[in-house]
Amino acid sequence: MSVAESEPVEAENPLVAGLERQPVRSTAMVIFGAVGDLASRKLLPGIYNLAHEGALPERIALIGVSRGKLSDEDFRASAREAIERFSRRRPDPDVLAGLLENFRYVQGAFDDDTLYARLAETLTGLDQSLGTQLNRIFYLSTAPEFFPTITGRLGAQGLSSSEDAEVRVVIEKPIGYDLASARAQTESVHQYFEESQVFRIDHYLGKETVQNLMALRFANALFEPVWNRNFIDNVQITAAEDIGIGTRAGYYEGAGALRDLVQNHMLQLLALLAMEPPTEFEANRLRDEKVKVLEAIAPPALDEVAAMAVRAQYGPGVVSGAEAAGYRDEPGVAADSRTETYAALRLYINNWRWAGVPFYLRTGKRLARKLTEIAVTLRPVPHSAFQGPDSGGVQPNQVILTLQPDEAVSVSLGAKVPGTKMQIRPVNMEFHYGTSFLSESPEAYERLILDVMRGDATLFTRADEVEALWRIIDPILAAWELDTDTPIPQYAAGSAGPVQAVELLDGRAWRRL
Ligand code: BG6
Repeated sequence: MSVAESEPVEAENPLVAGLERQPVRSTAMVIFGAVGDLASRKLLPGIYNLAHEGALPERIALIGVSRGKLSDEDFRASAREAIERFSRRRPDPDVLAGLLENFRYVQGAFDDDTLYARLAETLTGLDQSLGTQLNRIFYLSTAPEFFPTITGRLGAQGLSSSEDAEVRVVIEKPIGYDLASARAQTESVHQYFEESQVFRIDHYLGKETVQNLMALRFANALFEPVWNRNFIDNVQITAAEDIGIGTRAGYYEGAGALRDLVQNHMLQLLALLAMEPPTEFEANRLRDEKVKVLEAIAPPALDEVAAMAVRAQYGPGVVSGAEAAGYRDEPGVAADSRTETYAALRLYINNWRWAGVPFYLRTGKRLARKLTEIAVTLRPVPHSAFQGPDSGGVQPNQVILTLQPDEAVSVSLGAKVPGTKMQIRPVNMEFHYGTSFLSESPEAYERLILDVMRGDATLFTRADEVEALWRIIDPILAAWELDTDTPIPQYAAGSAGPVQAVELLDGRAWRRL
């Protein structure tokens, strides 16, 4: 086979020529919870796809850690199965075999000290067999109650730093349950790890369209001049899902929609949309700007919550033609549960750019369809020259960023309908990822795993940012917890959500789902 034939297809696509392969230092990645759901569905397939693209370091080892009794061979077989089942590409047998060769397994309970001694031995063994000092990544793909146990024992075993290699720790959501627990978590991690070693994942930041939001704003002169209160009337951010909670009642009952999606993913979208331009696309510069804009959102007082936040639960209904149970009838959910499966908020950013512009956020399970989008609506034209019955089509311009299911940006414009009359109607100018770049976007986890290997924290949440996020959410949770009698509004599964959410909109309408 010639060199050209063995190159990945993307390399021949001139439209993605900017996707250079950067050198990444040889790495050992330790996954705690290596046979769990996240590892099987996202992490292992993500690592395989990076290998497939030739993006991984030359020498890469992976150590799975969990309680089950498995041999190295058993772990390789289970990793192979997960990759074959969940990879976005059909695995190439040679690439997969090469990757699995350096997979090891270390068995033990996370609070067992001997586990960490055995882990240290396995890491040193890999350094020796691969002939180099490998960087270390400890990926905590476990329930959050294990984070302090794991980081504490890694530290006690001397594994949290090294003179010859970079050591990083990756933490998955939920990052705390409220402000106080998030702070406690940060403190316990900081006992042994510097903040610069900590990579807190919010998988939304790994999505191509989320990064494209920054490209749209800061790589074009067209939008930024109007990106403020003088031109923008309101912003709507929607994260609608058609799925229910599946088998996740154990987690979801204690979380709810506000913690599950708003505190992290949706407020991240808002921050990127509204922050000031960073001087550089660099981890701390960018995160400084996000923190500033989040801190400009005044947390509501307890008695203001009812006017700016709506919660609701799905009842029985029909989703995509199939009957769906109501939330309280889902397995594992209390019959009198008050956990919200839908949350909508109206927030204001108190700074010069955004004062007075409402940001409406809504998310819910079991809604009419999966749709994640940001809709920025501009103010109407100051004066319409098109009077009379034909002027009805003069609508405010909108910039719509669709994250899911399509990845697209569209700008609505008023255009003349062909014919003898001056009739106006909105048309869309659209850019679709798939057709413009002729390539499939990588999964969010691929980008994020590679960034951890490179040591680039730009798309990860910093400790002060986590606090700023919780400061907005805490009073809403507190007000909802205090109110133990008002019935939780219900919406039919498969619908557009509760009618109560319309009241937040100051006479405007939610976009159609
Ligand atoms: C997760 C939530 O963080 O994000 C899930 O825990 C939710 O409840 C998921 O379904 C949505 O992610 P995506 O990428 O499908 O929009």
